[in-house]
Amino acid sequence: MASVAQSNRTLDRIISSIGDLPASPAIVSSLMSLTADINANLNTICKTIMVDQSLVARVLRLSNSSFYGRAKEVYTLREAIILLGFKTLRSLVVASSTHTLYQGVSDRRFRDALWEHTLAAALASRLIAQAINHPGVEEAFLAGLMHDIGKLVLMQKIPDQYQAVLIAAEQTGRTHVELEQEKLGFDHTEVGRLLLQKWAFPRLLVQAVADHHHPQGPDERPIPLAFVVNVANTLAGWKISSAEAIAGTVPEMPSQAAVLGFDQGRLEEVRAQLAAQFAAEKDLYRAAERA
Ligand SMILES: [Fe+2]
Ligand SMILES: [Fe+2]
Repeated sequence: MASVAQSNRTLDRIISSIGDLPASPAIVSSLMSLTADINANLNTICKTIMVDQSLVARVLRLSNSSFYGRAKEVYTLREAIILLGFKTLRSLVVASSTHTLYQGVSDRRFRDALWEHTLAAALASRLIAQAINHPGVEEAFLAGLMHDIGKLVLMQKIPDQYQAVLIAAEQTGRTHVELEQEKLGFDHTEVGRLLLQKWAFPRLLVQAVADHHHPQGPDERPIPLAFVVNVANTLAGWKISSAEAIAGTVPEMPSQAAVLGFDQGRLEEVRAQLAAQFAAEKDLYRAAERA
């Protein structure tokens, strides 16, 4: 086990070597609020996206993908946004913003599994937030998408050490958090917290990522997003993409679900919605990620 001083040095080195978020958080957050308004000005949205050329390319590429079965090609950003709709655009922008971080990880199996897991957790967070009438539905999606970003960073920056954590988890059945603490002296929630703070994400999102394995409270209203992400994380872990899983029995309800006012039946409803939505949207995001 690493000493405290050693662990702190490793953590500092990891965080300072990560650059800016590719699509800057400023673009992401202004687009999130702009596209939340159905009457938002299309010109303003176009201008905001045009700041980031790789984002423009992705939006155009996605709108021309076979997914939308267009007869005629889409050439302008304006047309593309109208075709995709604000909701899809917003999620695409956020998903795109993590794109290059994934590219930095060479272990393909890990990368694909984590990508699928975080997309499932993001969709689940959104569904849960909608089900409990949480005011931050899109923030929940974003928190779900970012919740395990610390794992991605650890795999990118200290691949050998992190592989050892993953192997130990597989062999012993112990949790990642526990083994990360033991072998590194810190865990992926701490890496996520420091990184999102560095990128100036809103405090609520930083907290959701930092606390997703141990949500605190909740004495606050609305319920902290960490609870939403915690339950979404469990739902995302159930095999949602295979047919047997969809038809199969639901594992035991996580205790945090009760805090959200969910019983087993309600959770099962959300899980079924998640399975359908994940199957329908996976290719859309994959197209966005590869564009
Ligand atoms: Fe996690
Ligand atoms: Fe997770």
